[in-house]
Amino acid sequence: MNNNIRWHDHQIQRDQRATQKRQKPCMIWFTGLSGAGKSTVANALDELLFSHDKHTYLLDGDNVRHGLNRDLGFSDQERVENIRRIGEVGHLFVDAGLIVLSAFISPFRSDRQMVRTLFPVGEFIEVYVATDLSVCEDRDPKGLYKKARQGQIKNFTGIDSAYEAPDSAEIVINAGALSVEECAQKIYSYLKTHGYI
Ligand code: ADX
Repeated sequence: MNNNIRWHDHQIQRDQRATQKRQKPCMIWFTGLSGAGKSTVANALDELLFSHDKHTYLLDGDNVRHGLNRDLGFSDQERVENIRRIGEVGHLFVDAGLIVLSAFISPFRSDRQMVRTLFPVGEFIEVYVATDLSVCEDRDPKGLYKKARQGQIKNFTGIDSAYEAPDSAEIVINAGALSVEECAQKIYSYLKTHGYI
């Protein structure tokens, strides 16, 4: 880092922003295979929180890759950078007082751990959307598994690139067995029970 750059403390502190919004800001980090249901459940939770007057923001893999991370592909190294940037952006939004939801495959345990360390204990909530590869592949909503099997896409998660499932996620969602609304409700209840909302 450049020695001529200094950190500035702001007059308005993060606690004041959180108080103004009547919520405990946090980062809700969805992880899981492509097609597992991360974006769908995150969207449903976003709607649920919004309808209860909570100030949220949803960061989504495909969307962020159209803008901020449009320069990144899917090599291991580029995925690491993808997640690092999302972690930093999420950190800023949490600082701004928001409840941030992110839906990225984020396949590597070490990267998710790295993002976790950006936050004070309790502000990072990992949600593992645990849908079997076979189910994701059957659904294949974007036709990408088929292409990956045909060798038209390289480094596809679950096919020829690794997915490291979390072993201590705060919440595990079995999106195959529950409806989208039930999944969202389960996370909503967690937030309520733990005093985030
Ligand atoms: S991550 O691994 O870096 O976290 P991210 O969540 O941003 O991935 O993007 C995943 C989305 O990109 C998938 O849902 C899929 O639509 C698309 N995609 C395109 N190529 C790949 C690939 N090689 N592996 C996984 N997803 C891919």
